[in-house]
Amino acid sequence: MEKVRFTEEKATMLATLYGRALDARGERPILGDKAADEAVKQIDYDFASLGVNADMGLTVALRAKPMDEWAASFLREHPDATVVQLGCGMDSRVYRVDPPPTVRWFDVDYPEVVDLRARLYPERDGYRTIGSSVTDFGWIDEIPSDKPGLVIAEGLTMYLRPSEGEELLRRLIAHFPQGGEMVFDIFSRLGIKLQKLNPVVRKANATLYWGIDEISELERLGLTLVSKLDSTDYATPEVKDRLSGSMRAQLWFAGLFPAFKKMGRILRMRF
Ligand SMILES: C[S@@+](CC[C@H](N)C(=O)[O-])C[C@H]1O[C@@H](n2cnc3c(N)ncnc32)[C@H](O)[C@@H]1O
Repeated sequence: MEKVRFTEEKATMLATLYGRALDARGERPILGDKAADEAVKQIDYDFASLGVNADMGLTVALRAKPMDEWAASFLREHPDATVVQLGCGMDSRVYRVDPPPTVRWFDVDYPEVVDLRARLYPERDGYRTIGSSVTDFGWIDEIPSDKPGLVIAEGLTMYLRPSEGEELLRRLIAHFPQGGEMVFDIFSRLGIKLQKLNPVVRKANATLYWGIDEISELERLGLTLVSKLDSTDYATPEVKDRLSGSMRAQLWFAGLFPAFKKMGRILRMRF
């Protein structure tokens, strides 16, 4: 068993990992991430303390699924691309998407997080991790820039200071002269204001900073929208039926008001 003592934003990745493990254990998994379930079994941590319930298992899987599909679709068109996944935590997307060996894939997170990955997940050709804060920009020099780039960031942007987040995106866009895509999620400024309503953020004692209201704020950095999903639209009617009554009521209520609908969004953007 691996004992871990993560706090604040590093602890939140244990919550999303646990969410995917709960999904994998269910009868009708959305993501079916067995590696997440195996990792949870090997980590000595009080996962129950993270505030993750069955609803959250479903919502974490519902957020990850379209991101997997968008990443896979980009890699089908660009089988020689370079992938950079920021704030990877214990996410096992590289195994789920299973790109061809011509793809080079880099997962980036704090050193102690990628160390844990190295202890629990197998190596694979074309894959490596980088232990660094994503905003200590020196790590970008380690990424080859001779192919199209796919930048993935799930559950990361909101933890960055706005000026650092914008600088990070600008640098990554400039790093890939052949262009590419970014697949990531954002919170609105209202989402940042209401952060303490999010049990995972509250229990991990994490702080969220970067809220983005308008797509134009990202277009100014050099990105063009390809697709977007509001958090109220992640679930199909069949999956909605599997959520608790209170979660369904929250989604229904949020769906009535544009400001609530766009509190959390997933984006696919081109650069
Ligand atoms: C909510 S978790 C999401 C983890 C993973 N993407 C997932 O979906 O399971 C946030 C992750 O971002 C990482 N993170 C936050 N700020 C970071 C930074 N400045 N540099 C590197 N990683 C960061 C945390 O360590 C954590 O792994």
